[in-house]
Amino acid sequence: MSAEPRRVEHQQTDKGNVPVYTTAIVEQPWSSYSAEDHATWATLFRRQRELLKGRASREFIDNQERFGMSAEAIPRYEELNAVLAKATGWQLIGVEGLLPELDFFDHLANRRFPVTWWIRRPDQIDYIAEPDLFHDLFGHVPLLLNPVFADYMQAYGCGGVKAHGISAEALANLTRLYWYTVEFGLIREEGGLRIYGSGIVSSKGESIHCLDSAAPNRIGFDLLRIMRTRYRIDTYQKTYFVIDSFDQLMQATLPDFTPLYASLAAQGSIPAGDIIDGDDVVHRGTGEGWSSEGDV
Ligand SMILES: [Fe+2]
Repeated sequence: MSAEPRRVEHQQTDKGNVPVYTTAIVEQPWSSYSAEDHATWATLFRRQRELLKGRASREFIDNQERFGMSAEAIPRYEELNAVLAKATGWQLIGVEGLLPELDFFDHLANRRFPVTWWIRRPDQIDYIAEPDLFHDLFGHVPLLLNPVFADYMQAYGCGGVKAHGISAEALANLTRLYWYTVEFGLIREEGGLRIYGSGIVSSKGESIHCLDSAAPNRIGFDLLRIMRTRYRIDTYQKTYFVIDSFDQLMQATLPDFTPLYASLAAQGSIPAGDIIDGDDVVHRGTGEGWSSEGDV
């Protein structure tokens, strides 16, 4: 345990925005959050909760309530952990910033979810390039109360440890699955499509874009298709994948992926905005505003 957690952010250099990785686990320095930090949380919490009415998965909002998250103050990890331990046995741990992949996978495989301890500055309210406390706590933590989703996250961690030992390509395949589900997933619920992806619920613009814009594709969940699909890190997604239920997600990812990686390697990747034969197309995107380069 480090007594003095540091705010560790990507660094802007002449090579662009370079990730800084840190492996330290820290106690949440709750009493050192400033009034400004709590105000930033309050602003973001109120704004997103208002925006997410009728947009976020019911489960997502219900679980925030179960945790007792509110605009009043930055939640304390230990209070959230008391709720989480009883529900699914997951545990939040404080971290200083982005973790190296293998450390991240290992935490998930052991039902520990790393949460960045610091919150963005007021001038970063609308956009920050990397996960901060708001993204991690508001976006990721609520669904850890869902037993099926909680198991999925652990299975992902175990799969990550395994893929890491297979090849960089296998890891890229698996990372796409996380991206298009945990970060940018949509779910069918009574009343229509809803958001469950953390990257969306913590973004003002994308919360609207993913459901209301005609530009992006919305396609039914397909494991192998997703694992071939490139994605965007600098703009809204060109394609969102829609699940029917968290059970569907869990079932699809139960088998060992090892044999899949070999066949995926032979097929090559799919550009982020393409529709291909066999897609279950919920909405074919107009592609308006897409940049032709930049898929990763
Ligand atoms: Fe995230």
